[in-house]
Amino acid sequence: MKPDLKGLHMLHGGDYNPDQWLDMPEILEQDIEYMKKAGVNCVSVGIFAWAALEPEEGVYNLGWLVDIVGKLYENGIYSILATPSAARPAWMAQKYPEVLRVSADLTRNLMGARHNHCYTSPVYRQKIYEINLRLSKELGGHPGVILWHLSNEYGGECFCPLCQEEFRVWVREKYKTLEALNKAWWATFWSHNYTDWSQVEAPVPKGETGVHGLNLDWKRFVTDRTISFMRHEIAAVRAGGSDLPVTANLMTFYNGLNYFKFKDELDIVSWDAYPQWHGTGGDVEAAVAAACYHDIMRSIKNMPFLLMESTPSMTNWQPVSKLKKPGMHELSSLQAVAHGSDSVQYFQWRKSRGSSEKFHGAAVSHDCRSDTRVFRDVARVGKRLKGLGGLCGSLPEAKAAIFFDWENRWALGDSAGPRNCGIRYEETVIAHYRAFWEMGIPVDFIDMECQLDNYDLVIAPMLYMYRAGIEEKLKTFVERGGVLVGTYLQGLVDQSDLCFLGETPHGLSDVYGLRYEEIDSLYDGEENSLDWNGKTYAVTELCERVHLTSAEPLAVYGSDFYAGEPVLSVNSFGRGEAYYIAARTQQCFLCDFYRMLAEKMSLERALDAQLPAGVTASRRVSDKTVAVLQNFNNAPVTVLLYSPVEDYETGEPFYDEVRLQPYEVRFLIAK
Ligand code: GLA
Ligand code: ZN
Repeated sequence: MKPDLKGLHMLHGGDYNPDQWLDMPEILEQDIEYMKKAGVNCVSVGIFAWAALEPEEGVYNLGWLVDIVGKLYENGIYSILATPSAARPAWMAQKYPEVLRVSADLTRNLMGARHNHCYTSPVYRQKIYEINLRLSKELGGHPGVILWHLSNEYGGECFCPLCQEEFRVWVREKYKTLEALNKAWWATFWSHNYTDWSQVEAPVPKGETGVHGLNLDWKRFVTDRTISFMRHEIAAVRAGGSDLPVTANLMTFYNGLNYFKFKDELDIVSWDAYPQWHGTGGDVEAAVAAACYHDIMRSIKNMPFLLMESTPSMTNWQPVSKLKKPGMHELSSLQAVAHGSDSVQYFQWRKSRGSSEKFHGAAVSHDCRSDTRVFRDVARVGKRLKGLGGLCGSLPEAKAAIFFDWENRWALGDSAGPRNCGIRYEETVIAHYRAFWEMGIPVDFIDMECQLDNYDLVIAPMLYMYRAGIEEKLKTFVERGGVLVGTYLQGLVDQSDLCFLGETPHGLSDVYGLRYEEIDSLYDGEENSLDWNGKTYAVTELCERVHLTSAEPLAVYGSDFYAGEPVLSVNSFGRGEAYYIAARTQQCFLCDFYRMLAEKMSLERALDAQLPAGVTASRRVSDKTVAVLQNFNNAPVTVLLYSPVEDYETGEPFYDEVRLQPYEVRFLIAK
């Protein structure tokens, strides 16, 4: 299922800000000439253009944008039309200070930067409604417009009195009685009982920060408020008569919003990817994290997504802004496609002359030339995307799923112990994912509200909070023959962040065949160990002591007072099995463990081949299964094939091996 983007295949283009160049028509002309040269078929316009669209209150000037969208269309270039809410004009901030955000120190921001608006302010909502309505009326029906780009990277929070009042309403609707509220927030602790709804305040450093239930509900509220604002934006474009699909560009591992809640609001998920290529961690580490997030984004709607931003060369905000080495632009762009993107879009088409992003990478630089290395890289991606249109709409059909649950993430981040110097939820999820990346086995991500029916293997790293009836879902999943892998910090708190009483993992101790007793925390550099399958592996940071009831021990701790106690176990339950990893292990253990499991379960790999280090394969399945073989080494590699394939783009056959150049990516189909 995929919204029809006017039949377009594989979008290629990026953020385009003609409003910065309206007094230089020769630049606008050159843009179109160069876009055609680079195989650009789609640009995002109007993202930060509110001041140009409404230069004075109530004075609208959409003509320039209508002209540009028209010219682009005449030249075969479609537009993704943005709503301009991410940056407000100065006149508005000056006349209506309530549109500006209040920070956690409870002072109101001055006019400045972007993403600096209150999501509740009736004035801001009214102003954005009016401009969106006009944009929709003028351009929503234009044949050159294919998609709405809602705002830009929704994010942040506002602590103004209006937002705080909305929070009180939200809390009251949720809990109905103060008694229920006090129970859920465990308010008797430190005598924080609420005796009137008006006492409820957002968590801020100079006020309350220690009530975990409050912190969690505030985060939920911020997501809901943002969605409420987004719905308001959508309502305006619908009122203007446009029924085009909507997207919002999401951010890498952004903690502030539960993106799974956007699933039913957005027609298409899109995101902005800026991996730190050639950084100190190495390209493989960056590739695994990027792949993981591509898969998370695809999983939100279980639909292809759009890569809405990426840099054609460097960013200007990373600590060290490195150029992409030859080959990396093509590889990183097609990596997104490999994981389910139906586009490669850039920030930005052309570098601005001034302000904070003037040195951020772009297809066209200040020299205004198209015979540059970066431009050629961009044009090559354009050319390849043309041949890959057949992949649009296809998915990897993963049989394994890993939990990445925002609410669990929030609760873990706020757990206060056992390891405040690094609980590392995201890194742990990535570490489990990496084992599959190395094998080239497709993976989906799920949160606790998702269904598990499509999977054979479900992995629950540090699933500390159990909510949304996950106990029942996991129990049924294993009973019916599914394989579950859980780790330490499993099922300890409920949806209000209250610790479960009795046996944990809550409701699943019979499924795991064990009972948790306590967890030890290790200093950096401190180690325990486990022996498994003839090898010794280090164990670090977090070590649980568990008692096996029906599970079989597979490995025990090597040292400390709990030496000899189980650290890895498996339990048969119904027709399935549940593994439990009681301690934090190193990457090599996870890779070996999941390799064993993948073989035992016959999990299908994207490509029937032996993948060398730094090389992965992912796949997109439609009438054909296309495997995408990616070499993240800055060196050539040889991949040994177990069955013959041919190149999807060139038809070249390969029987025993495929050679890949440094950073090369190939699309392959079975021969
Ligand atoms: C974000 C924003 C863009 C731009 C880029 C720079 O993703 O959405 O407007 O600032 O970062 O990398
Ligand atoms: Zn506010």
